[in-house]
Amino acid sequence: MSLVAFASARSAPGVTTVSLAVSAWLERGVLVEADPDGGVLAVRHRLGREPGLIGIAAGHLGTTETLLDHAQRLPGGLPVVVAPESAERATHLWRTAGSALVRALAAQEELDVVVDAGRLGPTSPALALVPHASLVIVVVRPTAEQLISAADRVRSLGGLNRHVAVALVGDGPYSARDVTDELGCDVVGVVAHDPRAAEALSAGSGGRGLARSALMRSARALAEQIARRTGVPTTSTVRVSATRLVEEAKA
Ligand SMILES: Nc1ncnc2c1ncn2[C@@H]1O[C@H](COP(=O)(O)OP(=O)(O)O)[C@@H](O)[C@H]1O
Ligand SMILES: [Mg+2]
Repeated sequence: MSLVAFASARSAPGVTTVSLAVSAWLERGVLVEADPDGGVLAVRHRLGREPGLIGIAAGHLGTTETLLDHAQRLPGGLPVVVAPESAERATHLWRTAGSALVRALAAQEELDVVVDAGRLGPTSPALALVPHASLVIVVVRPTAEQLISAADRVRSLGGLNRHVAVALVGDGPYSARDVTDELGCDVVGVVAHDPRAAEALSAGSGGRGLARSALMRSARALAEQIARRTGVPTTSTVRVSATRLVEEAKA
């Protein structure tokens, strides 16, 4: 099993989108919302508020329950564990039950857990996950503003885990090479800036061919790089389907 955590340093570079798009290419991937600022997957994908992360906090995983008992399936099959929407509730959950959550997510043998840790600032309670991750990926738009804060974040996360890398969203103005030189850290992939596909993925409003979009193709390449570093198996059949979401919305 592997635990792969995606996080940002500031603003909204597209962590949730990248986490979802990459999970969709992992054969045994489960996406877990661990953003203390609150979850968005339930609203975006019209899922129930339960089951979800709250249920894991009770600490019964590994005895009578499995992680999948707390997951819901997206059209296409990807299991997702949703977090409470409110930042107050999500933060409270991490502050009061963080160690039970970390233990549960780090103990999965049959599944590869992809965590959307949101903005992983110096006071985030989701930092507890970092030492247990096989790989921590800081998602950054390659602009000066984002790179400056990412540099600090990469340095401080590197003190908790040796396996920290960066994924870029969109091209320029700085290149992957510039970023590696400046941050002293691997750029593990470049995710395409693709607003249509990002919208389709998050709202299910896209048409057919999502898997062939620039976003999903670049996410597949990123999943393959993650596989090289962690051994997680990838799949050639994407596990999310915008088309089915559209058909369900029309029904
Ligand atoms: N690769 C991308 N290309 C274009 N737009 C994107 C991309 N990723 C995310 N977005 C858009 O940016 C906004 C924030 O995305 P989200 O993934 O929720 O960011 P975060 O989790 O970092 O807050 C959404 O409107 C989303 O559609
Ligand atoms: Mg997010």
